[in-house]
Amino acid sequence: MRIGIAGTGTMARVLGTRWALAGHDVLVGGRDTGRAAALAERIGARAGTLEDAARHGRDAVLLAVPYAAATGVVAALGGAVRGRTLIDCTNPVAPGFVLATGGGPSAAERIAAAAPGASVVKAFNLCHESVWGLTPPVFGGRPLAVPLCGDDEAALDTVRGLVRDLGCEPVNGGGLDRAGLLEATAAFLIGLWVGEGVDAQAIAPPLEYAGVDAP
Ligand SMILES: NC(=O)c1ccc[n+]([C@@H]2O[C@H](COP(=O)([O-])OP(=O)(O)OC[C@H]3O[C@@H](n4cnc5c(N)ncnc54)[C@H](OP(=O)(O)O)[C@@H]3O)[C@@H](O)[C@H]2O)c1
Repeated sequence: MRIGIAGTGTMARVLGTRWALAGHDVLVGGRDTGRAAALAERIGARAGTLEDAARHGRDAVLLAVPYAAATGVVAALGGAVRGRTLIDCTNPVAPGFVLATGGGPSAAERIAAAAPGASVVKAFNLCHESVWGLTPPVFGGRPLAVPLCGDDEAALDTVRGLVRDLGCEPVNGGGLDRAGLLEATAAFLIGLWVGEGVDAQAIAPPLEYAGVDAP
């Protein structure tokens, strides 16, 4: 696949590394092209501008910038992201582990509004960079499940493949109108992990105790 990554920070590095190793043609683009070149050399990718990443990412574009910058970045890319599968991994989490979206549209919906013609898929936001860097992220013998929210089945299918490239299992999280729940889940989990030092994995029971009727 041809994958563009907009951003040259941590998420760009950990996900870009794994996708380049999986054999994908990755281009890392940043507002600082020197930083993009250094990262690209490190992970076995090409380098360029943010626009180069959007144009290169015929199959998928990962938006790996802070939430506060996200809509501005995609709006500036304009037509370059039209028709693209645009992966939104942003976490709109403000101090106090609250949503920076403040009860309004989700980050993913705001990004979709700023990128008309792109198919936005919310993914990879729930876990810390240290998880995405594991080869593979398997805990207690169980591969990490990665929820995806989006409206375009072809785009979702592409992202499912990129999830499997990490050794993870994609999970259907519903349409883009549910991305806000995924963002709130991230804020809540980060609050437990970072704020309380709680093993948040323990808050969910096994499926057989989840109130689901036996088939
Ligand atoms: N790190 C994690 O564990 C993690 C996990 C899940 C989700 N996320 C989400 O993933 C996204 C990226 O996180 P990260 O940890 O990779 O951040 P990071 O290491 O701080 O990298 C951010 C990147 O965004 C660029 N950037 C910042 N403001 C920009 C602007 N106005 N215009 C263009 N580029 C801009 C930075 O460019 P410069 O280098 O030029 O400043 C840098 O390349 C965030 O939304 C975060 O919430 C992070």
